[in-house]
Amino acid sequence: MKILFLNGPNLNLLGKRQPEIYGSLTLSEIEDKVRARSAQLAVEIDFHQSNSEGELVDLIHHAKGSFDVIVLNAAAYTHTSIALRDAIAAVGIPTIEIHLSNIHAREEFRHQSMIAGVCRGQIAGFGAQSYLLGLEAAVNING
Ligand code: DQA
Repeated sequence: MKILFLNGPNLNLLGKRQPEIYGSLTLSEIEDKVRARSAQLAVEIDFHQSNSEGELVDLIHHAKGSFDVIVLNAAAYTHTSIALRDAIAAVGIPTIEIHLSNIHAREEFRHQSMIAGVCRGQIAGFGAQSYLLGLEAAVNING
C-alpha cells in the first residue's frame, strides 16, 4: 500500500509557528514519526509540503495510479479551496483530512471545510498525533 501525505501552506514553518496552537515539532520531525510508524506497518509513504494551491492540485492529479490513499492537511486552503475539493473528487483516491488543531474550536471561519464532503473522514485536534491517526486510518481504509 502507498500513502501520500500532503501538507499545505505555512506548515513548513511548524516548530516556530504559533507553537501554542500547532505544537513544537517541525514538519520534518512529524515526517520522521510518520516514516517510523509506516515502516512498522509495512506501508510505503511519500510526504510533501507546498505553499501553492496549484502545486497541491497537481500532486493530487499525479497521485492517480500511484497511491492508494491520500492524507491531507490542506491548512488554510481547507477553508477556501474549491480547486482542492474538485481535484480530490476528480481522482477518486480515498482521502483523509487531518489537522493539528481542532478547527471546530477555533475562529468561525475555520469551522467550514471545503474538502470535508469529498474526504472519507476528518481527524483534527491531536497535534502531531493527528498525522499518526491519519496513517492508521489510511492503512485501514478498506475496513
Ligand atoms: C491547520 C488548521 C488551519 O485552519 C490552518 O489554516 C493551518 C493548519 C491545522 O493543522 O491545524 O494552517 O490545518
